[in-house]
Formats: sequence, structure tokens, C-alpha cells
Amino acid sequence: MYQEELEVAIKASRIGGGILNDLFGRVKNIVKKGEIDLVTEADIRAEMEIINIISEAFPNDHILAEEGGEKENASHHSKRTWLIDPLDGTTNFAHGFPFFAASLALEERGELVLGVVYLPHMDELFCATKGGGAFLNHRPISVSRVEKIDEALVATGFPYDIHTKYRSVLDLFQKVIVKAQGVRRPGSAAIDLCYVAAGRFDAFWEEGLKPWDTAAGALIVREAGGRVTTYQGGPYDPYQSTIVASNSLLHQTMLDIINSPHPS
Ligand code: IPD
Ligand code: CA
Ligand code: CA
Repeated sequence: MYQEELEVAIKASRIGGGILNDLFGRVKNIVKKGEIDLVTEADIRAEMEIINIISEAFPNDHILAEEGGEKENASHHSKRTWLIDPLDGTTNFAHGFPFFAASLALEERGELVLGVVYLPHMDELFCATKGGGAFLNHRPISVSRVEKIDEALVATGFPYDIHTKYRSVLDLFQKVIVKAQGVRRPGSAAIDLCYVAAGRFDAFWEEGLKPWDTAAGALIVREAGGRVTTYQGGPYDPYQSTIVASNSLLHQTMLDIINSPHPS
């Protein structure tokens, strides 16, 4: 199922990723969208190219892309929406830190059915279709088997409005960092999720993310045997702002830590 969509999404992510690679280390135009939220010419050019490829192949589909490439020719009633982040990890990219990806997901009637995350610098392609398993460079992947939080490597990220709400974000960070074996903040939520899917991380949490940040990675985690919810343990929804992803085994522990009383 969704074979044609998968092929088109892979092609779009590789071409978009190629643009990112070509511009890596050479971007001249960096604009601030917010106090610490950047956009570069690479975000814009990759997004345009990805949208062209998707909309040429599937002209009736709705598109929701980070840099404003919303395409409503299929109207709000379209049954299918592509959620696109042409460059997840823009801050990394702008600083020459080679940890970034293009992320594409397809939602059909409110359900995620396809996810592709491509890291052009590492040439790693993560993908999944609903019910079809998860793959890294076309080889099946699965989540880790770590059961104890003190043996777990856990990832997170910080929202762009951290400066105004750092207390609650740092409280949560403190709660996890004193329990886990290690905590990382790599700077790309889409990749963090794929790393959970591949067993490189055992869990991930973050708040303030947008649908295009998490949709592809969340499906890839699920298809690799992991679990994805909100901080409250409710079903994952790309339009909700909190996310916890894990290898399933650690999920309740992560939720318990996240919802435990704040450290004094
Ligand atoms: C960001 C990355 C980062 C996360 C931010 C996201 P962007 O996306 O995923 O890891 O912490 O909250 O907005 O801006 O690089 O596409
Ligand atoms: Ca993003
Ligand atoms: Ca982005």
C-alpha cells in the first residue's frame, strides 16, 4: 500500500536533501522568524522543490509545509494532506553542524499513512508506511529492548519560545536527566524520532513542536515497534504540542517521570 506515494516522497526527499547538501556551509541569507528561530535560503529552495514534486504527482492533495508552502487547491476537504519540513535542524544547518533532514509525511482522513525522513549529509533514508514496517536505507529497523531508565539514552529538544518559559522546560529536563543514563539534544526532532525507531535512542520527549516536525518520525517509530503519545499518555496527534516516543518498554516510566511532581 502507498507504494507510489512512497516512491514520490523518497524522490522528493532526496532531491530536497540534495539542495540542502549543496548549500551546506555556504548559506548567505539567514533570516530570523522569531528571537532564535531561523530560516535560510536552503529551507525555502528545498521546500519549493519538494512541493513541486509532490503536487505534480498528486495534484489533488493538500500540502502543509513549514515555510508557508500551504497549498489548498484541493480545499480543506481534501482527504489527504502532506506535512512537509524541508529542513528539520535549521539552527544546526546554519552553524555548519551536519545533523539535519528533510521530513515528509502523508495523512489520510486524519491518519498517518506514510513517513520519510532523509539525512542528506549521512545519506540515511528512514521510511515507513502504515502496517508495512520501518526501514533505514531499505533495511528493516526496530526499537531497542532497553527496559530500565538508568540504561536508557534519551533525547529531547527545546522550543523556540524557551526564553519565556524556560522554568517548566528545565524542570522536566532535570527530572529526566537525573534518572536516565544519558540525555541528548541533537537539534532535529524528526531525526530524534528516527533514532528511537532505529534503537539508537530509547526514548524522546519534547513540547512546542509542529505537525511537520513529528508526523513522519512518529509513524516511523510506531512501525518500528515503538509507542508515541502526548505527555498525558493520550494518543499521538501531530497537531498537539507535546510528544513522548519510546521503545514501548520504557513508555510508562517516561510518562511517570514527566508527570511526577516538580523537583524543588
Ligand atoms: C526544530 C527542530 C528542533 C526542535 C525545534 C524544532 P526546525 O525544527 O526539530 O530539534 O527542538 O523545536 O522547531 O526549526 O529546525 O525545522
Ligand atoms: Ca522542524
Ligand atoms: Ca524546518
